[in-house]
Amino acid sequence: MNKDITVIILAAGLGTRMKSRKAKVLHEAGGDTLLNNIIRIAKEVTSPDNIIAVVGHQAEQVRESVKIPGVRFALQAEQRGTGHAVISAREVAGSHEGKLMILNGDGPLLRSETLFRLRAESDEAPGGSIVTTELQDPTGYGRVIRDASGRIAAVVEQKAGTPEQLAIKEVNPGLYCFDAAAFWKHVGEIRPDNPAREYYLTDMVEILTRHGYPISPLLIEDETELLGINTRVELAIADRILRTRKVNDVMLSGVTIEFPETVIVDADVEIGPDSIIEPNAQLRGSTRIGSNCRIGSGAILRDCDIGDNVWVLPYVVAESSSVGNGAHVGPFSRLRMQASAGENTHIGNFVELKKTKLGAGSKASHLAYLGDSVIGSQVNIGAGTITCNYDGVLKHLTNIGDGAFVGSNSTLVAPLKVGSGSYVAAGSTITEDVEEDALAVGRSRQVDKPGWARKRRAHLQETKG
Ligand code: UD1
Ligand code: CA
Repeated sequence: MNKDITVIILAAGLGTRMKSRKAKVLHEAGGDTLLNNIIRIAKEVTSPDNIIAVVGHQAEQVRESVKIPGVRFALQAEQRGTGHAVISAREVAGSHEGKLMILNGDGPLLRSETLFRLRAESDEAPGGSIVTTELQDPTGYGRVIRDASGRIAAVVEQKAGTPEQLAIKEVNPGLYCFDAAAFWKHVGEIRPDNPAREYYLTDMVEILTRHGYPISPLLIEDETELLGINTRVELAIADRILRTRKVNDVMLSGVTIEFPETVIVDADVEIGPDSIIEPNAQLRGSTRIGSNCRIGSGAILRDCDIGDNVWVLPYVVAESSSVGNGAHVGPFSRLRMQASAGENTHIGNFVELKKTKLGAGSKASHLAYLGDSVIGSQVNIGAGTITCNYDGVLKHLTNIGDGAFVGSNSTLVAPLKVGSGSYVAAGSTITEDVEEDALAVGRSRQVDKPGWARKRRAHLQETKG
């Protein structure tokens, strides 16, 4: 990390070729927006408060989408080209010393090693350095023009190039590290004298060279990480590459992933060693998983916190919820809205927990809806139990004390307290609080009529006769 580097990320454009109403940098690859992907990399070479994102299209949404604290923003109200975008960040950038790194906001595959190399290369020439690479098909990219001695002289845009220039395969992927003082001194010389009437940042290569600040090119052989996203096809390619990188990182850190090509692990997800992830699991958002867990096939966990030694069986769908050490969840369970299942709990098939805290060692093994509830430890929730938490207008709370036993098919009409150690008889509809250690029976008593069925059959036979 280096304090002398200011990074400006260009993220104000709409991205016409995405054919979207959403700004391009808000599209996601690898489970995060293009912009967050690039900020995550920039953060490795400088501190977040030295990173400035230039926003314009949907500026508010783009600002809000940035998850890394400290990053600053500059507004480019009208999109008049990449050079104009950088000029819009001039005031926010403040100090005009050291190195000025400029990164296109639409290149999520970049690796931080390349930025470190770019920073080092920028010391080799007074003007700084830019990354270049060679592409079989350079269409759309700015072409790198070298002079007779092989030094870089200019970058020419697709729309402005001559046929000879457009035949050049060495391109500008949009990663620059300029000498800040020289850059800011001359940036005002960019003119929109091109068919698109845009202020091209790339004109700075020729301008700085002309003023005695030549640029040293850093040619990168492997162009994969330099892919700029302009279309949804390229977005899908980047997504796949980021996904592969992430599952590989996770496996190298000590996690077993079966059929990794089918598993989705978002960028910020963390998984402890010796956990096993089965095929087709999806671990999304900021999910954390402890060590020695097994995450079943088809489970989808978003922003969840899973302890150690947890077994999440197949097809669990959980969001913004937590599961304590040693718990078993699933198959086919649903947890949502800050549900929390304590240590060694068992949550079985077709059980839903919404905004509910289930205490340590408690069990809801089958077919239950537990909403807006606080449930103590060692509680048994019978199959078919429903907390009736909603009266059509308001939500109400259910509180179930430690060691309570709720019989099967109980209907618990909230607001309600079921005392600790109490029993609720199977099939009850409970509308009043249940005292500690009491038995609550909320159903009509069974009536047996001896011989009734035999008589009925005889009667029916007679009528038929
Ligand atoms: C740019 C480069 C081109 C390079 C290519 C690499 C220029 C003039 N051209 O072209 O040499 O080969 O990237 O991908 O820089 N942006 C703004 N404000 C604007 C215009 C763009 O913030 O007014 C942002 C966009 O949001 C995007 C980035 O700048 O993140 C690049 O813009 P884009 O329109 O994709 O540039 P290219 O035409 O691809
Ligand atoms: Ca681009």
